[in-house]
Amino acid sequence: MTRQFELKELIRPDNFIDGQWRAAADGARFAVTDPATGTIITQVADSGPADARAATDAAARALPAWRDLLPKERATILHKWNALILANQDALGALISLEQGKPLAEGRGEVAYGASYVAWFADEATRIYGDIIPQQQHGKRMTAVKEPIGIVAAITPWNFPLAMIARKIAPALAAGCTVVAKPAEDTPLTASALVLLAHEAGVPAGVLNLITASRDHAVATVADWLEDSRVRKITFTGSTPVGKYLARESAGTLKKLSLELGGNAPFIVFDDADLDAAVTGLLASKFRNGGQTCVCPNRVYVQAGVYDKFADMLSRRVSELKVAPATDPDAQIGPMINIRAIDKIARHVDDALAHGARVLAGGRRLPELGPHYYAPTVLADATHEMLLCGEETFGPVAALFRFDDEAEAIEAANNTPFGLASYFYSQDVRRIDRVSRALQAGIVGINEGALASEAAPFGGVKESGYGREGSKYGLDDYLSIKYLCQGNLA
Ligand code: SIN
Repeated sequence: MTRQFELKELIRPDNFIDGQWRAAADGARFAVTDPATGTIITQVADSGPADARAATDAAARALPAWRDLLPKERATILHKWNALILANQDALGALISLEQGKPLAEGRGEVAYGASYVAWFADEATRIYGDIIPQQQHGKRMTAVKEPIGIVAAITPWNFPLAMIARKIAPALAAGCTVVAKPAEDTPLTASALVLLAHEAGVPAGVLNLITASRDHAVATVADWLEDSRVRKITFTGSTPVGKYLARESAGTLKKLSLELGGNAPFIVFDDADLDAAVTGLLASKFRNGGQTCVCPNRVYVQAGVYDKFADMLSRRVSELKVAPATDPDAQIGPMINIRAIDKIARHVDDALAHGARVLAGGRRLPELGPHYYAPTVLADATHEMLLCGEETFGPVAALFRFDDEAEAIEAANNTPFGLASYFYSQDVRRIDRVSRALQAGIVGINEGALASEAAPFGGVKESGYGREGSKYGLDDYLSIKYLCQGNLA
């Protein structure tokens, strides 16, 4: 029988190292708050380098035995973990909503989304094949085998407190690696709950270690992993500046990196698009998690012939979105994560208005609900001089840019250092082929706004990073290839 936990049993304020819950070495703690109200939920361990080192020591001790399990033995444990996550979907979903602010339905949805990666990689664990290389000389046999890369450090963001860490830990464990992990300081509780369930599922002591750290301590704590040659891989989701920092600072020990970094996704609506589908797709992709995802469209390019109609259809639908705390069953947009996020959104909207944008919906903070709420917004007449064109707003703001022809749209869409997701709507098959090839992005949504799936490769090009999560490619990031050359066989 799969154990079900109460929400309060899932809240673990300590680090998990070598199979035990432990306070930080110096006893320091920091507050985790509910973004809807600012209320402190609990005080968690504020780790330092000594805690990071203890986690790595545990992961190093556990590695040989975990690596040597049969793949199907690791798969069995991962399947149990998946079952436990799903059995605790309501409590985990509520915890996500409590510390991150997304509406309850989205919190529950994220649990299923995260679990799907665990189930996927449980199966993939049993499909790590190598190659027998066609013989080149008599008496010599050449093979390529895949081995776990070693200890993996996973550093994860606040916007999907469960799914992002699940899609890093699951492939690492499936591959036979051990893990040290640090979740974002805004949302450490879901990650700890997930680790609790992994332990309950039978992940042995030391195989999965998690430490929490405040914004002030994070750099010094993670530095210990960056310098430690036993840590062979960093997997990170977050901002491009932090990704570049990790790449620079881990160069001393030449770690393998997977970096899922910022985006600035274009969403193009051509004159020949199905406008109803385009509006629905934009609502799904732009306003998911209140606009706080790396794949949210940030620049909406609409062709001149349908611009006014599309703007009207979109702003009507956006005005109907219900903004409320996660606990309201009808909530569609919750609070933003913190005051820095809200200030950035307001700065982008104010700057756009100063440069001539028009508000078609929203366009203001909602202090009547609390300091972290912003009204879902549609801006018309956006231009490339505006801040929101160059940087991800990471909030519920859809900025509409007008364009005349396909070449202009592609040129504008690609005119960014980033290349994570992109979207376009058209019903012309030749255009679909041309535009799919021309867009510089790791992910292209064609007449579709919902892209994520455990079976698909998720990742970017250019300064959106490298490596892929999910899919049959997702395990490669946690494996290294060993070439075996056996001679004197004749
Ligand atoms: C992200 O925002 O980084 C991930 C979004 C997703 O998995 O769809």
